[in-house]
Amino acid sequence: DVQRTLVLVKPDGVARGHVGEVLRRIEAKGYTLVALELREADEALLAEHYAEHAGKPFVQPLIDFMRSGPVVAAVVEGQRVIEGFRSLAGTTDPTTAAPGTIRGDLARDWGRKVIENVVHGSDSPESAAREIALWFPAL
Ligand code: CMP
Repeated sequence: DVQRTLVLVKPDGVARGHVGEVLRRIEAKGYTLVALELREADEALLAEHYAEHAGKPFVQPLIDFMRSGPVVAAVVEGQRVIEGFRSLAGTTDPTTAAPGTIRGDLARDWGRKVIENVVHGSDSPESAAREIALWFPAL
């Protein structure tokens, strides 16, 4: 079925100039951009966004990282796009993410507290609905 997912190009991806490459891969795959915005996320938005990780030791460093610069937020649409974008992104840990994936090709371990892995993608239909409502309340 046609789904929507929230994609973020994280501050490391924006700072390193990978916005175009990430969007190119999404479009090349055949998915459709339905919303796109460059913005600086605030603490409240990020606390909500990462609510499922609340209490984990990397959450505050993660929020601080996500506030270290602008992010690009996008809503992407297509058949099974939630699973499809996660496949394009590769696994969370960029060291072992498969070459050919966004993280496998564009990210690495910098030895920091937070895993800097260039992109975020919603992990389920429930997360996608919650995250899209949070980032794009007008949609
Ligand atoms: P993402 O899957 O987009 O959302 C949670 C983020 O937390 C994840 O990407 C990584 O950036 C980060 N993360 C997940 N697990 C860890 C971990 N064990 N240590 C540090 N950061 C993590």
